Amino acid sequence: MRIGVDYYPEQWDETMWEQDADRMKEIGVEIVRVGEFAWSRMEPTEGVYDFAWLDRVVQIFTDREIDLVLCTPTCTPPQWAFEKYPEIIQVGADGAKIPIGIRGHRCVTNATYRRLCEKIIQALVERYHDNPRIIAYQIDNEVEANHCRCEECTQGFRAWMQKKYGTPQAVNAAYRNTVWSGEYSSWEEVKPPTAGVLQWQNPSLTLDYNRYASDSIVDYIEFQRQCIRKWDATVPITTNNWFCENMPDFYDLFEHLDFVSYDNYPLSVLPEDEESLYSHAFHLDLMRGIKQQNFWIMEQLSGAMGSWMPMSPTPRPGMIRGYAAQAFAHGADTVLHFRWRTACSGAEMYWHGILDHNNVPGRRYREFAELCSWAKKWKEAEGAVIQNEVAILYGSAQEYAFKLQHQAEGMYYLEQLKLFHDAFTSIGVGVDIINETASLEQYRIVIAPTLLITNEEVKDHLYHFAEDGGSVVLTNRCGVKDSYNCCIMQALPTVYEELAGVRVEEYDAIGSHEHDLQLCDSAWKQVHGEQSAKAMQWCDILAPTTAKTMAVYGPKGFSLFYGGRAAVTCNEYGEGRAYYVGTVMNRSAYHSLAQTIVEETGVSYRNDLPPGVEVTVRKKGQKSWTFVFNNTMHSQKIWTGDVLQPFEMQVYPEK
Ligand code: GLA
Ligand code: ZN
Repeated sequence: MRIGVDYYPEQWDETMWEQDADRMKEIGVEIVRVGEFAWSRMEPTEGVYDFAWLDRVVQIFTDREIDLVLCTPTCTPPQWAFEKYPEIIQVGADGAKIPIGIRGHRCVTNATYRRLCEKIIQALVERYHDNPRIIAYQIDNEVEANHCRCEECTQGFRAWMQKKYGTPQAVNAAYRNTVWSGEYSSWEEVKPPTAGVLQWQNPSLTLDYNRYASDSIVDYIEFQRQCIRKWDATVPITTNNWFCENMPDFYDLFEHLDFVSYDNYPLSVLPEDEESLYSHAFHLDLMRGIKQQNFWIMEQLSGAMGSWMPMSPTPRPGMIRGYAAQAFAHGADTVLHFRWRTACSGAEMYWHGILDHNNVPGRRYREFAELCSWAKKWKEAEGAVIQNEVAILYGSAQEYAFKLQHQAEGMYYLEQLKLFHDAFTSIGVGVDIINETASLEQYRIVIAPTLLITNEEVKDHLYHFAEDGGSVVLTNRCGVKDSYNCCIMQALPTVYEELAGVRVEEYDAIGSHEHDLQLCDSAWKQVHGEQSAKAMQWCDILAPTTAKTMAVYGPKGFSLFYGGRAAVTCNEYGEGRAYYVGTVMNRSAYHSLAQTIVEETGVSYRNDLPPGVEVTVRKKGQKSWTFVFNNTMHSQKIWTGDVLQPFEMQVYPEK
């Protein structure tokens, strides 16, 4: 494993650079990321470049055999650029230009902005590409789907719509625009959804707009990738990814990039209810699943987070070492910590780095130094891969559509995925989170939560997967809509009825109410240890056609009128089977269901993991490494007899 740091030399007096680099070298830092926001230092006025300082920085690290990640600084255009070319400023949903002085507030489609980007990228890459210490490029910083409403982006949306539909009449037909006199008679009438409550807009339009916004940022990333490739044909290129409000489609974003990198800020205080203990692992598994390859952490938690919010508690002892090791266990061979030293100026001065403002090595620094040494012990495991038999499907359109039209109080798309991820993780079964359209060949169990928006390719994959002997898990809210975000006029789960062997007779969005659930499948009941569980948030009242019933709504609770009706079923289909979970259950019911499914499918698992302890296995040739991580605040004894301290990682190599 390789450990690095994010470093902003332009924010420090030049006299500190060598001391910083010496310290890094001394504790074993192998990589630094530089250049991210330094456009104004690289190009102080238009066309006038100053790379002398960066030459010295690159030389300092090169001399110490520390590798570099070079960033395109395009997330923060210089002030002169905004002054000279106000057209490059992003326009908000209210039609007004976004106030400048921060970052990320440029229009990524604007031709002038792109010309400026191209020139700075050329200057940078031409100058440094020959240095073998430059091991990767990072494009921009944490991009979001492009929601700019300037004239150019509005035209871009229209062109995107024209390409997809051909005529306004075809849009009307797809969206069924007779509602609220929404019919278009010319392309000029087709506009991005405007300000106000998004939920009052046509959901077909908002979903397409989000697809366009994603395509548009992907186009920008591809533009930068090509700029880099003109001057450097080989060094790998990435962009640093995160979870944000306007998420682009992850799979499209990284399609042409060489590897995925992710900004990982796990919690410094764990929730008491344990419900989200495994959510860090969830995010890591999702990142690995984007390209179904190992990935990098480009920014990793190093200290208290804060600045535009009150400061978070500082990372507890063990977290700096443990969370980085956890990322490694989930397929990140390289982890860069954000940041070397906490900024003394600027808006982000309370987002803490490894070193505090005082520049005196402290507790976190010492723990980070330990991490650097620990990482060197596991060099051999670099490049080892994770091969799982269980996959959870994620869909960008699903997430967006679910978010836009909240299905029931307390019910969120990613949470539905996490419930299953948590269940399999808790029994030591590794899970890949992959694009819903990805090939399912390598898997034996595929969980497809809330397939709200129907996609023909996904549907075909799932039918074939079950036919060929796989176990599919479908849930409530599947088959609800067509790809235009209009409801399908057919009994739910519509196109999935044959696979699931059930019909939804009626549904009940019970939100925060609860209902009693009675397990009637003997295997599940036995694993669960009791007959009762809970139904929450959503209840499909199921009429099985060919499926057998695994659980029914009980006589107690909020929804008395469907007591005795099926809630969870299993249908033999082809050589395999399809489970249908019509409700949202309590955590232990997912755990026991996961165990029942792996037993029925013949996937191996563990039933001796203490809560909050994760196991992952990475393989390389004949060798494998089993990683066991204690993601809790308590020490935990594991099956080997070892006691793991809070956030401790143990690695067990095998030949
Ligand atoms: C993000 C950004 C960084 C920094 C950190 C912490 O991850 O990429 O530049 O702003 O958040 O605030
Ligand atoms: Zn724009």
